[in-house]
Amino acid sequence: MPLVTSKEMFKKAYEGKYAIGAFNVNNMEIVQGIINGAKKENAPVILQASAGARKYASPIYLKKLVEAAVEESGLPVVLHLDHGDSFELCKSCVDGGFTSVMIDGSKYPFEENVRLTKQVVDYAHSKGIVVEGELGKLAGIEDAVSVSAKDALFTDPDQAAEFVERTGVDSLAIAIGTSHGAYKFKGEPRLDFDRLEKVQKLLPGFPIVLHGSSSVPQEFVALCNKYGGNLPGAKGVPEEMLRKAATMAVCKINIDTDLRLAMTASIRKVFFEHPEEFDPRKYLGPGREAIENMVRHKIKDVLGCSNKA
Ligand code: G3H
Ligand code: 13P
Ligand code: ZN
Repeated sequence: MPLVTSKEMFKKAYEGKYAIGAFNVNNMEIVQGIINGAKKENAPVILQASAGARKYASPIYLKKLVEAAVEESGLPVVLHLDHGDSFELCKSCVDGGFTSVMIDGSKYPFEENVRLTKQVVDYAHSKGIVVEGELGKLAGIEDAVSVSAKDALFTDPDQAAEFVERTGVDSLAIAIGTSHGAYKFKGEPRLDFDRLEKVQKLLPGFPIVLHGSSSVPQEFVALCNKYGGNLPGAKGVPEEMLRKAATMAVCKINIDTDLRLAMTASIRKVFFEHPEEFDPRKYLGPGREAIENMVRHKIKDVLGCSNKA
């Protein structure tokens, strides 16, 4: 099966009340770890590359690694641009064989976000490629945050409906309390499910995306720290909240930090226990396996997309 767009995947995920995992890739071991996990779970998967990943690995290596993953696994795989920040970058990914691109205009005023997103949609759709937009600012909810502060940051449901209608995007990333990285919440973690429900009511059947959805499992934080790391106070989105979101309109859940944590903890362990080691296969191998295990866990216990390939 060749690379696919997320159109069919999201339709099935919406109807089946599950979500597809979108995992960030930067090198061969990460691609293999994710695809091995997805294969064992017989799950569809989105491999996403940021501008930084393309710079690190170079576009041609990333593309070929993902092609190898598709050929070897036979799974439905989407190659997606994560957080595209310009028309030119999105165009270069569409032209370079990506099957999905994100244009992240969330830092711009509404009208500019609409204009930029529509420009990308017009080009991508003319080539049969799908587009994810973003509206709202990703930020964890602090305990003391006021309703008006929340309204200023989080996605306004009416604006989301207008945005989708005017741009023609295929999916939309919204802000309901998740944020990037390992430090998401100062107080109790919480997501604004009422807001998600309002968006779902206004856009029935339309796929919603959650960025910043790592859960930062405390056992991995502890492992990292045990072997010489220092991640005090790291806190992510509880997995049961993601599970709930996946049964609602959320069809794509972005996870990068948890893979970084799993890989780094296992590599730290090798060096801690075998300081004499210098064969890269002896630490990158366990790193790849740690990613595979994390991806299997997410697919099975959080996203609910095992056996949906
Ligand atoms: O949301 C961003 C992803 O975690 C990718 O991060 O820009 O460091 O590659 P990056
Ligand atoms: P995390 O940092 O929570 O893994 O989020 C990743 C992400 O949103 C990639 O776009
Ligand atoms: Zn993101």
